[in-house]
Amino acid sequence: MAGAGISTASGIPDFRSPESGFYSSLQRCDVPYPEAVFELSFFLDNPRPFFTWAKSMYPGNFRPNVIHYFLRLLHDRGLLQRLYTQNIDGLERASGIPGSKLVEAHGSFASATCTGCGKASTEQDFWAAVMADRVPRCAACSGLVKPDVVFFGEALPQRFFLHLVDFPTAELLLVLGTSLKVEPFASLSEAVRSSVPRVFMNREAVDSWRPRSRDVVQLGDLVDSVERLVELLGWTEELRDLVQRETEKLSRPDS
Ligand code: APR
Ligand code: ZN
Repeated sequence: MAGAGISTASGIPDFRSPESGFYSSLQRCDVPYPEAVFELSFFLDNPRPFFTWAKSMYPGNFRPNVIHYFLRLLHDRGLLQRLYTQNIDGLERASGIPGSKLVEAHGSFASATCTGCGKASTEQDFWAAVMADRVPRCAACSGLVKPDVVFFGEALPQRFFLHLVDFPTAELLLVLGTSLKVEPFASLSEAVRSSVPRVFMNREAVDSWRPRSRDVVQLGDLVDSVERLVELLGWTEELRDLVQRETEKLSRPDS
């Protein structure tokens, strides 16, 4: 299970960290409260704050970091049953984890839909408007186009319900970089059998984490924690090679 804390090392602010989190940057904006940016009623009335945020998230500006590549290494070693992420930055996919192993529970920017007539809008059209500081409008009905990220109160993607199979059969649960504040995602942390070890890695403890006897809680910087775990696993060199190979691949102009 992953949250915004796995992407801060890629330069993407999380939501709730004091000072650096996206929500604290909104104090100066005309929003009634931070989460309003991701509420449909506010968005339809005033989409500007959302598209300002979307512009800061332009996928081309960010690269996966060592945490994403650790999760990719778990996949390469046949150990990743599924990665449930709340992040919409697409960095898990960019690290080479196949879509079949991913549940992007809060959607992603990979597609966009008109809020008026439901017509799909291409990623290109969407980003062309956002990067030009224009509000994306539907070609068919000039309705407001919204990327397929899940707003508060919206249904999660169908794939989220794979958890009904994945969590009861999991043999280990890793929970990385999340405040576990948003449902129904947060409750997944309780959905593994009581005999299954859970590893929580985050800068700080979170009140919704109800300790179990076989838990491991590793607080502190996530890159340090992941690199320590990788060292204990004896995968340091393998991970370094993977990061190097993939970083070179992504920096090639045709990538
Ligand atoms: N190392 C360790 N922990 C970190 C790091 C880091 N480098 N950077 C951030 N964190 C921790 C923060 O301390 C925080 O506890 O990651 C957690 C991120 O929590 P949030 O900002 O609340 O992000 P997340 O849990 O993913 O939010 C869930 O809320 O706003 C909605 O839909 C949005 O998907 C998002 C959901
Ligand atoms: Zn339309």
